[in-house]
Amino acid sequence: LAEIETRLRRRLEVVVGPANVLVGAESTGSYTTDWTSRWSGEAAAVVRPGSTAEVVEVLRACTSAGLAVVPQGGNTSLAGGSVPRGGEIVLSTSRLRENGAPDGRGLAMTVGAGVVLAAVQERAHAAGLAFGVDLAARGTATIGGMAATNAGGLHVVAHGSMLQNIRGIEFVLADGRVIDRLAALPKDTAGYDLTSLVVGSEGTLGVITRLRLRLIAEPRYRACALLGLRSVGDAVTLAASLPTDLPHLRSLEFVLGDGMELVCQEARLSRPFPERYPCYLFVEVAGVAPVLDELTSALIDRDEIAADVVATGSDEVDALLRYREGQTEAIRALGVPRKFDVAVPLDGVEAFLATLGERLQSEIPGARCLSFGHLAEGNIHVNVLPPDGIEDERVEDVVLGLVLESGGTISAEHGIGIAKAHWLERMRGADDVSAMRSIKAALDPGSFMNPGVIFPL
Ligand code: FAD
Ligand code: MLT
Ligand code: ZN
Repeated sequence: LAEIETRLRRRLEVVVGPANVLVGAESTGSYTTDWTSRWSGEAAAVVRPGSTAEVVEVLRACTSAGLAVVPQGGNTSLAGGSVPRGGEIVLSTSRLRENGAPDGRGLAMTVGAGVVLAAVQERAHAAGLAFGVDLAARGTATIGGMAATNAGGLHVVAHGSMLQNIRGIEFVLADGRVIDRLAALPKDTAGYDLTSLVVGSEGTLGVITRLRLRLIAEPRYRACALLGLRSVGDAVTLAASLPTDLPHLRSLEFVLGDGMELVCQEARLSRPFPERYPCYLFVEVAGVAPVLDELTSALIDRDEIAADVVATGSDEVDALLRYREGQTEAIRALGVPRKFDVAVPLDGVEAFLATLGERLQSEIPGARCLSFGHLAEGNIHVNVLPPDGIEDERVEDVVLGLVLESGGTISAEHGIGIAKAHWLERMRGADDVSAMRSIKAALDPGSFMNPGVIFPL
């Protein structure tokens, strides 16, 4: 193996330059442990190609040497799929940074897979436009990684997840074939939609190299209400009706009482209200014309609202959303949480959270649980901090078992990764998973692309 690796290393150095082949724990460390510090593994090397042609050569070199490849963007994955399990080559997209400007062909922009979300947002903003997907990891998460996970984020209720915001894609298969779907005509039904197949494939079908993004007119007016509520049930009642009352609704997010206390403590924020509430709802509206009146009239005379504060203008709105966006960091400060990204039908959210609390208490006494998320989609981020010595399986059985009983999904936006691979068949069923495996086998017969992700090894 050492000899193969030495030969491979030389070949890779010729392709990408010696400075872009990293070997040894010291230089590869930041690529081999995930954001949560829950998963890590050794990499044979980290390789940083700078163009599609170099990606082709890197993949050919690795697969002919029999080495598997883990594509990596910003390494902010919360499902463990972006770090090696043992001895793979990490293909980092950090040099695929072509950052095009919005072009004359309508509301679109072509970018390299390694461009971070914040850079796309800045480019679009400079042209009076915006990108429809936003998430708190915007400074590090890449557009390619977000496409590979079909990331959702804060604005799904308005603009959908990544798939709805991508017009076309260029990607490279394990054997080096380049699939170019960047032309991205408004209508195109010629054959299978390979773009939608690759979006959400988590690096298991190929490496995404370039993307054509759909842009929207920049919503210059923003307003956001933070509501203090007496119960999750009240939040659900509001979440069921507000999307119809608010044509410019942009996000509808919730945080529970203990999460609010935690983020105030960890991020040193002052409490939003003198009193504490069991649940908080964030209702953001945004548009090209003023939207404040729309928001205030939709919230007037709603018995469910116990307390409210309204922010207008981007700076104030962003400051209010910090209570919500700061959840992930605040929870990480407590330890390494078992993170779940589940969704259940909206009318089942209250029962799900109540039953989850009861089951955790009886089956894993002492476990701390913090839940928050994207209420509009019934998407709940469950974070469990169990007492020492509790196996992951016990926590998963409680959380994911309840999700399946509730008719929900084990992954709404973070992907399956390695974290949930052994739950996929329980959720989708054997026939469904075997159809997915057939696709994988057809495009990556040698199983070189991100083995262990989506399908357990
Ligand atoms: P990575 O973590 O590097 O990789 C993720 C997966 O995609 C891996 O399986 C990897 O192999 C694959 N991959 C990466 N790049 C490519 C490529 N070019 N071609 C093929 N496969 C590739 N996620 C949400 O959906 N919504 C949120 O609101 C959200 N908020 C977050 C907030 C914080 C603070 C953090 C830390 C994470 C959050 N995430 C969220 C999770 C994460 O940011 C997303 O999953 C994001 O899409 C990952 O992008 P990345 O570039 O970091 O990808
Ligand atoms: C979020 O919505 O903030 C995230 O997806 C991150 C998380 O689950 O912690
Ligand atoms: Zn989320």
